[in-house]
Amino acid sequence: MRRRGPSAWATQRPTWQEARPALIADAVKRASLRPAGNWFVVGAARDVRAGGPPRGRTVGGVEVVLWRSDSGELHAGPGACPHLGAPLRDGRVACGTLVCHWHGLALDGEAFAGWDPYPVHDDGVLIWVRLDAVGDEEPRASPPVPERPVAGSAVDAVFVAVGRCEPQDVVANRLDPWHGSWFHPYAFADLKVVRAPVDEEDDTFVVDVSFRVTNRLVVPVRAEFTASGPRTVLMRITRGDGATSVVETHATPLTAPTDDQPLTAVVEAVVATSDRRGFALARAVAPALRPLMRRTAARLWRDDLAYAERRWALRSAGRLPA
Ligand code: FES
Ligand SMILES: [Fe+2]
Repeated sequence: MRRRGPSAWATQRPTWQEARPALIADAVKRASLRPAGNWFVVGAARDVRAGGPPRGRTVGGVEVVLWRSDSGELHAGPGACPHLGAPLRDGRVACGTLVCHWHGLALDGEAFAGWDPYPVHDDGVLIWVRLDAVGDEEPRASPPVPERPVAGSAVDAVFVAVGRCEPQDVVANRLDPWHGSWFHPYAFADLKVVRAPVDEEDDTFVVDVSFRVTNRLVVPVRAEFTASGPRTVLMRITRGDGATSVVETHATPLTAPTDDQPLTAVVEAVVATSDRRGFALARAVAPALRPLMRRTAARLWRDDLAYAERRWALRSAGRLPA
């Protein structure tokens, strides 16, 4: 941690000349062409409990229900009951089977009466569902789970927010690191983009930035941003406190592509680690730490979703500066 003297917001070095719209647009375009094999992040793994209530999600206009058996095995499938269409998210899980609350049809996760399960994957932090009708890509057997600090040495927290925009607007916000200390002065200081991506081979932003702990105390780090898929941007801390920690931002469309009022969920996983003494303690108190980590993410995402929503509003009106 470092002490930092006070400085006025308006005296920072402007970044707008470096943050070239074409550079950002090209990076967004390249990201959009990366395959995700029709896999979509739908939320935090710990939100679907073994034997707990089913959860409902909507992805690209498709209703999905998720539940776990008592042993923790995860199931996913269409959210409407195959009998008369009851919302299965309002059903109950009994002995590992999902029981519809209208007339008692029971699903054990296998295909039944016209109900066909969706491939689902629990990566330990997030849940992914494969929806071939939504993705329109070549399906892949497993989702593109980013590399993370080893389980057990990290604290993770998952934050979810919804914005009136499309996934590409969320990605575009993340691929503009230059807005950091201007737009989020409460969280960042002294942001400098050391390297911007040039092409497919070299597609990483390298950023030096100080995270504000308090007004005077900052943690300087180097971070790398890459779009690992059409809807995912990774930030990895490569130097400084917390090195190897990752922040994964996943943008999942909730509405169908034809919807003229799009909604997108931002599912952000922070997997934090540190060599500092005290981090072992932090791990032990992870349940208490999680709400704090989520609160930080919530504040940043309030602003970043305003950015993404603004981009969508301009884009859909054909008024995005190019
Ligand atoms: S609607 Fe589900 S059992 Fe009838
Ligand atoms: Fe931001």
